[in-house]
Amino acid sequence: MEIDLARMRKEYEDAGLDEADFGPEPMPHFEQWLSAAHEAKLVEPNAMVLSTVDPDGAPTGRWVLCKGISTGANGQLGVEFYTNYNSQKGRHLADRPVASVTFGWLAVNRQVRMQGSIEVMTAEESDIYFAKRPPLSQIGAMVSDQSEVLADRSVLEAAFAAAESETPVRPDHWGGYRLVPNVIEFWQGRRSRLHDRIRYTHNTDNWIIDRLAP
Ligand SMILES: Cc1cc2nc3c(=O)[nH]c(=O)nc-3n(C[C@H](O)[C@H](O)[C@H](O)COP(=O)(O)O)c2cc1C
Repeated sequence: MEIDLARMRKEYEDAGLDEADFGPEPMPHFEQWLSAAHEAKLVEPNAMVLSTVDPDGAPTGRWVLCKGISTGANGQLGVEFYTNYNSQKGRHLADRPVASVTFGWLAVNRQVRMQGSIEVMTAEESDIYFAKRPPLSQIGAMVSDQSEVLADRSVLEAAFAAAESETPVRPDHWGGYRLVPNVIEFWQGRRSRLHDRIRYTHNTDNWIIDRLAP
């Protein structure tokens, strides 16, 4: 390889994280960071890597978009994403309803990592989000057997063309999940690799806040 990856290095000069700026709940801080990433006009600031495990415990990650922040069954806030329930990730989550998501706002040297339990959103909640998608994206969701092997791209395009004039209806196998975190870590890059890490861990009815070594 032409690029010397070992010497590729960026110095992080950002202001640090002060525990005093973190409140008792992590999600308001997360929302501040997400807003800051949006205001900084970062590309897809709501993109997050969703990591799941297969039945043998083998992990895999892929990007999805966070499409909302809402309250889960235990009264705690979580992040929503939408997908095909029959996809690889859907099968993993049906088998083990736990996951992690990682936001990477590299232009501002920030990362947020969450891990927790997964809830399937109600049909009504999924309908509300599905209705907000552009019609052609709704058709796309209807015709794609996400994660299945395709013989050819033309198979997908033919299915799309056949459905294009239909009134879109949310398929039962397409909808939302909510990841309700019990651990959230905020990471800010600092000079000399002495980064700041602030971790919240949920403990029955409150959050424990720790600073971690970088
Ligand atoms: C920036 C970005 C955002 C994405 N958002 C979604 C999403 O919200 N939902 C989704 O199902 N796939 C999304 N994808 C595609 C997934 O990364 C993935 O290819 C797909 O969901 C199939 O994953 P699976 O086979 O592990 O289930 C996105 C990809 C990228 C690069």
